[in-house]
Amino acid sequence: MVDNMPRESAKAPHHPRVAVVWSVLSAEIERFAAGTGATLRILDVGGGSGGFAVPLAELGHDVTVVEPSANALASLRQRAADAGVTDRVQAVQADADELPDVAEPGSADLVLCHSVLEMVDYPDTALDALANACAPGGAVSILVANRIAAVLAKALSGQFATALDLLVHVDGVAEGRDTIKRRFETATLTALVGGSGLVTEQVHGVGVVGDLVQAPETATGEALREFELATASRVPFRDMATSIHLLARKPMR
Ligand SMILES: C[S@@+](CC[C@H](N)C(=O)[O-])C[C@H]1O[C@@H](n2cnc3c(N)ncnc32)[C@H](O)[C@@H]1O
Repeated sequence: MVDNMPRESAKAPHHPRVAVVWSVLSAEIERFAAGTGATLRILDVGGGSGGFAVPLAELGHDVTVVEPSANALASLRQRAADAGVTDRVQAVQADADELPDVAEPGSADLVLCHSVLEMVDYPDTALDALANACAPGGAVSILVANRIAAVLAKALSGQFATALDLLVHVDGVAEGRDTIKRRFETATLTALVGGSGLVTEQVHGVGVVGDLVQAPETATGEALREFELATASRVPFRDMATSIHLLARKPMR
């Protein structure tokens, strides 16, 4: 597993919250294109209104967003039109369970599944579908909520009973009070990804302290971004971040 410190991406959006993810994606795109400027086929499962899809299309790549929400797809289309990349963004209304019906096996060079595995009924089935849609040698980018961060956040705000609930619950949720079905930890996520035949190459923490700091973002933006990039791959900081980002590769055979 590569455990390198992510570098700031030159072309990508620079919000501290997503700087680490963009850094990893940008490096993967550069690796794929190897200086040729080749166009990637990108599949964004649960891509919402295109927060990742549209900037990727603006970089010149062909992006298919598979998303169950009609409202999100309408926003996606508008965002793509505003950015002038309608011809590079395809919107498909379906959920992760339906992925085998809407995405050809091996049809994507890069598959994104960001903040979605927390909501699906069966994350192992979803991961199998993501792996199936990925081309041999291609990569899958996964972003999930981290149980450890949720426990810390509750404890630091004095909600110790809820923190303990999150700590011991099998899925890392507060029963009946949570909007998502599960949270992950680095080890359980890596094992789950391995079960779908993908090989984990990089794991980063996203939002090591970004959701905990009290200072206004305008006062902390640059320093926060630098801190997040510096700590994203460092244990134990990585493993206490709000979200876990994992880049896995589909073996060539
Ligand atoms: C938190 S948003 C993340 C959007 C986008 N991936 C991003 O990172 O900006 C979660 C998205 O997952 C979608 N979603 C919910 N359940 C899903 C499912 N079973 N399969 C695919 N997408 C789902 C929601 O409609 C929503 O757009």
